[in-house]
Amino acid sequence: MSRSAASSNGAVEPFDAVDVIRAKRDGGVVPEDALRWMVDAYTRGYVADSQMAAFAMAVLLNGMDRSEIRVMTDAMIASGERMSFAGLGKPTVDKHSTGGVGDKITLPLAPLVAAFGVAVPQLSGRGLGHTGGTLDKLESIPGWRAALSNDEMFAQLREVGAVICAAGSGLAPADKKLYALRDVTGTVEAIPLIASSIMSKKIAEGTDSLVLDVKFGSGAFMRDVDRARELARTMVALGTDSGVATTALLTDMNTPLGLAIGNANEVRESVEVLAGGGPADIVELTIALAREMLALAGLPDADVEAALRDGRAMDAWRAMIAAQDGDPDAALPVARETHTVTATQTGVLTRMDALPFGVAAWRLGAGRARAQDPVIHAAGIDLHVKPGAAIAAGQPLFTLLADDGSRFARALEALEGAWEIGPETPTAHPLVLERITA
Ligand code: URA
Repeated sequence: MSRSAASSNGAVEPFDAVDVIRAKRDGGVVPEDALRWMVDAYTRGYVADSQMAAFAMAVLLNGMDRSEIRVMTDAMIASGERMSFAGLGKPTVDKHSTGGVGDKITLPLAPLVAAFGVAVPQLSGRGLGHTGGTLDKLESIPGWRAALSNDEMFAQLREVGAVICAAGSGLAPADKKLYALRDVTGTVEAIPLIASSIMSKKIAEGTDSLVLDVKFGSGAFMRDVDRARELARTMVALGTDSGVATTALLTDMNTPLGLAIGNANEVRESVEVLAGGGPADIVELTIALAREMLALAGLPDADVEAALRDGRAMDAWRAMIAAQDGDPDAALPVARETHTVTATQTGVLTRMDALPFGVAAWRLGAGRARAQDPVIHAAGIDLHVKPGAAIAAGQPLFTLLADDGSRFARALEALEGAWEIGPETPTAHPLVLERITA
């Protein structure tokens, strides 16, 4: 690859973007120094959006090898600040989910793990499209504040153990720019780019260890289980190569998780789990992820169920919410309008498809179409039954929640054909399909 291209201000750039694009277009491996330069030059505006878009498309079509993905990730980490919790005096462990419908697991999980004296620095985002954002859910709690300074985060980790807050703009700014470009150029789906995007932020965050919940199925970012597995393996390798102990669970996202889809109703359901109840699938996944996190933090024998039963996880939740100015006892928003859908026949609920339920909740106002839109915290869907339940004609199946009843028609349109009642009990699929380690 030739070096030395003159930039418009006369400074000599060590590489030429067109050479880097051609190398990837022709299926080659981009040399480390050229790839690092490409990411840096794009972040500072020397490499144009059109050039980076061509490069991203070449990656989507031709892939990257393990060393290229590692270099890409490192270069994105190097574009911003790198946090460190070394002075905390406790192990740190984080979780990342690739997102799904009704996925509120972070809410009970972070305080549950913190109840064992482990610090959980959970930098989260807002939802876009049919998958909800953790910060949107927590903002249904009156007073709760997502934005924390690094000092506030550090103090809360020391005193409470769990923090769920907004990621500052200083972490991996190259990823922020590249992700926005991929979104409008049909290149989001490239596994090397997804893996480097997610892991650059997690590694820059400074956690000692990380558990990934990589979802597959209709409500997931990756529908296909083989692609989800490949993404999980790629991210586990990246974390491990960077010194972050990383494991992944491959989990089923074909059916909504739990009975609540929305924001305030998902907080209510999370509190039920912290009180020792809650839907079986939410409890199962929360416990499975907590065990993984605690094992990475050096506590493989922690009795996770006991902490849910005896109130320790609930105490950590209340402290976590209060530390960010939220009132854990305040009433949560309730929808002004409801519409309940009932069964037209008797039988067994054989299917409830996650994606249309996610889209319907979004149309009811629980999610946003543009990053700057607000969400309606009371909007969403409460499910009354899950697949496998015996159903009698006339029985309520689910209730749509909105502040404006004119939203129901479009939500119901999204739900056409989204569930099925049949004569026979469906085959149950495991929620956690596989565990992936380095
Ligand atoms: N989430 C991210 O942060 N990055 C991606 O590329 C995809 C999902």
